[in-house]
Amino acid sequence: MRAGFALKAGVNDFILRAHLNFGARALVNSLTPAIIKSFNPTVRTLMGPGPSDVHPRVLAAMARPTIGHLDPLFVQMMDEMKQMLQYAFQTRNALTIPVSAPGSAGMEACFVNLIEPGKKVVVCQNGVFGGRMKENVERCGARAVMVEDAWGAPVDPQKLEDTLKAHPDAKLVAFVQAETSTGAQSDVKQLTEIARRHECLTIVDAVTSLGGTPLKVDEWGVDAVYSGSQKCLSCTPGLSPVSFSEHAVERIKARKSKVQSWFLDLNLVMGYWGGGKRAYHHTAPINALYGLHEALVMLQEEGLEAAWARHRRNHLALRAGLEAMGLSFVVAEAHRLPQLNTVTVPEGVDEAEVRRRLLGEFNLEIGAGLGGLAGKVWRIGLMGYASRAQNVMFCLAALEKVLCDLKAPIARGVAQGAAGAALAAD
Ligand SMILES: Cc1ncc(COP(=O)(O)O)c(C=O)c1O
Repeated sequence: MRAGFALKAGVNDFILRAHLNFGARALVNSLTPAIIKSFNPTVRTLMGPGPSDVHPRVLAAMARPTIGHLDPLFVQMMDEMKQMLQYAFQTRNALTIPVSAPGSAGMEACFVNLIEPGKKVVVCQNGVFGGRMKENVERCGARAVMVEDAWGAPVDPQKLEDTLKAHPDAKLVAFVQAETSTGAQSDVKQLTEIARRHECLTIVDAVTSLGGTPLKVDEWGVDAVYSGSQKCLSCTPGLSPVSFSEHAVERIKARKSKVQSWFLDLNLVMGYWGGGKRAYHHTAPINALYGLHEALVMLQEEGLEAAWARHRRNHLALRAGLEAMGLSFVVAEAHRLPQLNTVTVPEGVDEAEVRRRLLGEFNLEIGAGLGGLAGKVWRIGLMGYASRAQNVMFCLAALEKVLCDLKAPIARGVAQGAAGAALAAD
């Protein structure tokens, strides 16, 4: 009787399991897409507003073996990274680290740590990214007092001065050094000097400037600065180098309210990236950090000033070619970023069609205009590893071919010669 019962229970169990297995398999099968293969993107030349071309050495470094993020070897790598970032930012700030997320997270780290609810912050806006600063200030429960300038113009120091006089209770000023949406560069030295005179700390967006154009954090007295790995550093996107002065750290430590973001609270992050025993905060993106480390090694090898000079040299060559073709720049020469060239689309040319053809026929990416500049301009980046003479020549040739195909009113057969002459004259 008992044996019969056991046998029956065993059979039932078998039937039940088979049923469940069948059900689970049916579910898995219904969620399994038709044979997907490994992703192998086409090789493009990235000459837009970012990401820019990644150096092969960076990609190779990222393929090295993953180790633990508290492994002594990794901790040593983190220390070297901090030193090299201090060099890139030209600072002795101890709190100089890469945030484990893109430039927007570096931006947010600066704002959430330095702002408490109810405070007043002066934000300078001359493009898209100043607008994001305003958004950050408001999300911190503070009030943004805006200094507005036209898109394509730099931040006007006199307007900042006047605004700070009218708002003596503001204790923080934020602005973008390199406005990627327009290609305009603002004068960090002058703006921080004005902010300091009015007893304000400064937050500077250096996402597109770091490594491509002069930035001297200590000499110019910048208090908080953030950047991105994917522009003039020749690295992949996803990391945001930041640096905070002692004044900024004091303000963070003296906060009355908790930082609203746990992940970006620098009081906690400091325990991970700080000097003594490292406490677990989050699992660092190990291989991405190998990539940034390699990018910074390359920056050291080239030399910061040589990197700035290279970006300028290639910009001048591209400019010579574009102007010879008959295209004109949006930003006045004195305020132009060498790493981001914003040019006006000629009359009657469909700008999106040009970009489509460049991508389809030449595997070349350039950027469109944003906001009020959408449809009217192209943004041609010469950032990091993409800032090379061969890219200048390639871009000019491809653009000329496409514009000729579209019967655009440009001068033919002169662009590359003009660029070559500019390179030779250097
Ligand atoms: C000036 C500026 N600030 C901030 C950002 C945001 O960086 P990310 O896209 O890496 O988050 C960008 C990105 O292009 C930028 O150009």
